[in-house]
Order: sequence, then C-alpha cells, then structure tokens
Amino acid sequence: MRHLLIVGLACALAAPLAQARSIPDPHQKHAPGNEAPQTPIAQAGYNNATNYQLACAGCHLSNGEGSRANDVPRMQGFVGNFLKVEGGRQFLVRVPGLSMSALNDAQLADMLNWLLRKDGMAGQSMPTQFTPYSAEEIAAIRHDTLLNLPQTRGKLIAAMRAQGIAIEDGMGD
Ligand code: HEC
Repeated sequence: MRHLLIVGLACALAAPLAQARSIPDPHQKHAPGNEAPQTPIAQAGYNNATNYQLACAGCHLSNGEGSRANDVPRMQGFVGNFLKVEGGRQFLVRVPGLSMSALNDAQLADMLNWLLRKDGMAGQSMPTQFTPYSAEEIAAIRHDTLLNLPQTRGKLIAAMRAQGIAIEDGMGD
C-alpha cells in the first residue's frame, strides 16, 4: 500500500515534467516559403501608413476614427488640438500606445509628423504653427511614464474647453 502511494506520488510529480516542452518548440519547422525570420518593425523600413496599420490601427482603426466602446478616442480631425494646450505636445508622445510601441524614436517622430498634418488625420484641428517632432525630442520624452493618464488627459481636455475648442474626440462627456 505504502509503495503504491509512493509510486503514485512520483508519477504525479513527474507528469508535468514529462509534458513540459519549450516554447517555441526548437524542432518546429517554418511553413514552406516562410523560412526567413521576421524583420523587427523598427528595422523593416516601412512607410508611416504601413507602420500605422501594423502598430496603431488595431486600436485606433484605419483612419484614426477610434472606438468609444473600447475607450479609444478619435484622432481624426481632433488630435491636433493637443498642440494648442500646455503639456499637450509631450502628452502625444507619452501615451503608452505610442511610447511603448516597437517603433524606434525616428519612426515615432515621422509617425506623429504624418498624423499631425492638415491634409492628414489631424486635419483642421491643427494649429497654424507646428514645429515637427525630431527623433531627439521623442527620445527625451518617450520614457517619461504617464502615471495618471486619465487625469493628465482630462486636464488637457479642460484646457481645450477653456479655449472654446469643441471636444470632438468621440468619447462623449
Ligand atoms: C492597445 C491599444 C492602442 C494602441 C496599439 C495604440 N493606441 Fe494610441 N491610444 C489608445 C488609447 C486607449 C488612447 C487614449 C489614452 C489612453 O488611455 O492611453 C490613445 C491615445 C493616443 C494618442 C493621444 C490622443 C488622445 O486623444 O488621447 C495618440 C497621439 C495616439 N494614441 C497615437 C498612437 C499611435 C501613433 C499608435 C501606434 C504607434 C498608438 N497610438 C497605438 C490606444 C492605443
């Protein structure tokens, strides 16, 4: 009886080890025609539109229309307003979707300069003067973690309201 118990216990302890396998499986083969390892997005050299589709559109949707149901604000025709309030320029770099993305500093500067165009996503929300972001500026701000994002964003929105800017970010009140 005692032996049975010991053998049973040993089996129970050994079972997870027997089933364990490393992930990814070192013996796994690439699908035919798909042998080359993927190039990291920061080195792939895609244009802004492609980087946007790969890194941002999953949440912001194809044209920056956002999704209220998922708490993603509309950038289309609105995001440029952040440049009109103090701290807004930095906020646009510090939001986690951007600052923590796999894109490098130069790509993020390009991405923001591309989003923030009068004939682009930001559209008419852009201020008359806009100094493009540089990779150095992104590098300097990107790692400054936003510890209280809703409060920070709320203050920026309140500052816009105080300037008489209509809050058309698709989030409601
Ligand atoms: C996982 C979902 C997600 C991804 C991916 C994402 N974002 Fe966001 N983004 C959000 C949400 C949600 C907000 C609103 C603020 C917050 O809660 O972070 C936001 C806010 C922003 C803002 C500020 C606008 C505002 O109204 O608050 C900018 C600019 C922005 N994102 C750009 C980007 C870019 C560029 C990318 C791709 C590199 C990206 N985001 C990837 C979810 C995402």
